[in-house]
Amino acid sequence: MSGSPSTRIFELRDSAALQVWREELSESARVGFVPTMGALHEGHGSLVKKAIEECDVALVSIFVNPLQFNESGDLEAYPRTESEDCHLLQSWGAHAVYLPTPTDMYPEAEVQKVGAGPIGNRLEGAARPGHFSGMLTVVRRLFERVHPHCAYFGQKDAQQLFLVREMCEEAGLKIDIRACPTVREHDGLAMSSRNRRLTSSDREKAGALFQAMTQANRALLSGTSELSALEDQVHSFLQKHGFEVEYAKVVDDQTFDAPSPGSLLRIVLAARLGNVRLIDNMLLGKEP
Ligand code: PAJ
Repeated sequence: MSGSPSTRIFELRDSAALQVWREELSESARVGFVPTMGALHEGHGSLVKKAIEECDVALVSIFVNPLQFNESGDLEAYPRTESEDCHLLQSWGAHAVYLPTPTDMYPEAEVQKVGAGPIGNRLEGAARPGHFSGMLTVVRRLFERVHPHCAYFGQKDAQQLFLVREMCEEAGLKIDIRACPTVREHDGLAMSSRNRRLTSSDREKAGALFQAMTQANRALLSGTSELSALEDQVHSFLQKHGFEVEYAKVVDDQTFDAPSPGSLLRIVLAARLGNVRLIDNMLLGKEP
């Protein structure tokens, strides 16, 4: 049942429609699920294509989740491009898209939130209080409604991916969480729905984020072992290129904690250009 651009995509506008669609699938059909907040680009496309490749049916959700925004201005400014998104999904060959409203997603007056644990309060979680708890709450709810066999997440949001895996393990959810590599623009900028809010001069500067991580990787490969000096270098390189840096940290890739000797290392960054906040990360110690 592979997706074909000529097959019309199912648009499921509430959880009742989702349930009917899900129940009509044969029991043996493997369901691949890609949760998104829309304003889709080729980064999302890579996840959708992987789901189509590995599963019988690919379902994508589009929901700008208010619970994971800690700044109301950011929630309002988040791009919403539903009809372009549906066309893209159709062209990629997705089978169905779930487009819930906030009341469909959260019918109750007070939502019981999923805790994000100690790692959820570090780095991105420290910079955006409540963000990961809100993210896990919607992902958990989506998983309970969709019952996917596999769910696809981008390494672009490495800490999110880590926490989703941790939540599935703790809750005993038997969902195969699949990690997909970060898709980048020609200058290395990670594709992101937020990139379209960059002014043209900030867009020109934005490639420095990738350069900073590549330089850190080169320094590590050539023998630098002082990680805090490496972080400082990244910090000042980004400042010099016009970024306001929120954090630039090297963490243990397996735990998202402080590295210990022998750790696999990942650098994680958050920085602002104007009022646009960008995040990125890179595994270190590997030849590019
Ligand atoms: P969103 O930012 O729309 O991203 C949806 C998925 O696409 C995430 O797994 C993200 O890591 C992945 N993605 C984004 N840009 C990518 C890129 N350049 N390359 C590869 N993958 C990329 O992440 C969210 O939405 C939300 O937090 C969500 C999980 C949907 C919960 O609301």
